[in-house]
Amino acid sequence: MAKIIDGKTISQQLKDELRQEVAQLKEQGKNCCLAVIQVGNDPASSVYVGNKKKACTYIGIESLSYELPEDTSEEELLALIAKLNEDKNVHGILCQLPLPKHMDEDKVIQAIDSKKDVDGFHPQNVGALVIGQEGFVSCTPAGIIELLHRSGVEIEGKHCVVIGRSNIVGKPMSLLMLRENATVTVCHSRTKNLPQICKEADILIVAIGKPQFITAEYVGEGAVVIDVGIHRDENNKLCGDVKFDEVEPFASAITPVPGGVGPMTIAMLMKNCVEAMKLYS
Ligand code: GUN
Repeated sequence: MAKIIDGKTISQQLKDELRQEVAQLKEQGKNCCLAVIQVGNDPASSVYVGNKKKACTYIGIESLSYELPEDTSEEELLALIAKLNEDKNVHGILCQLPLPKHMDEDKVIQAIDSKKDVDGFHPQNVGALVIGQEGFVSCTPAGIIELLHRSGVEIEGKHCVVIGRSNIVGKPMSLLMLRENATVTVCHSRTKNLPQICKEADILIVAIGKPQFITAEYVGEGAVVIDVGIHRDENNKLCGDVKFDEVEPFASAITPVPGGVGPMTIAMLMKNCVEAMKLYS
């Protein structure tokens, strides 16, 4: 029987700690503020943005909401970002992705002041992570490190296999595990012998984007399994990249979907906002 790594409870602890800290900072006259930009009305983005604003309210962070129409020009978006960069009362700027097709996502990300880049997507922050300097780290991988620490999973010296090499999850995840002194293997869609490699992992982090792809043949006895995926199965039930019922008996610890990695992402975004205010205002 695997230990269930409860991201819902752990993210709640983190949010409660932040809420206390934000209240103390308010007593010193410091008010934390996050600008949230959404262009267009992609339904999934609207849910994410709504959840982020809700978390701000819970913690006591002010959120400024910019809901721009789908046909907003890139120039207009860049002008808004420039204005928010200059605004001393704004500590974090979050521009929800994906952006409409007529916009250059890289250009928009680079326009955000790296000191306000609470998503950790700016090349300055990504580069800092690569060379071991301080900076904002992408929230999902940062949340996974927090989950592992708070669940008492030892990382140092362990073999960690990361499946996925995206800029938002796989790459920063691999770098963070390296920073934690794990031995890291990165796998992706072109990897040969994937089951054999995964089976050797002490810690298996799955960000593959395919529902219930990881079955028992990928998991060694006693592995810690972290599932980043979120999908709907044929019965419209939420599921991850891991076939939970099949893998759980072999794992020593495993994250469920929902209630594993997901809730940590928003908690880490809130943590980055508070950090931005403490460091740069
Ligand atoms: N779209 C999907 N995930 C994210 C995220 O973490 N941040 C932003 N800004 N957009 C996203």
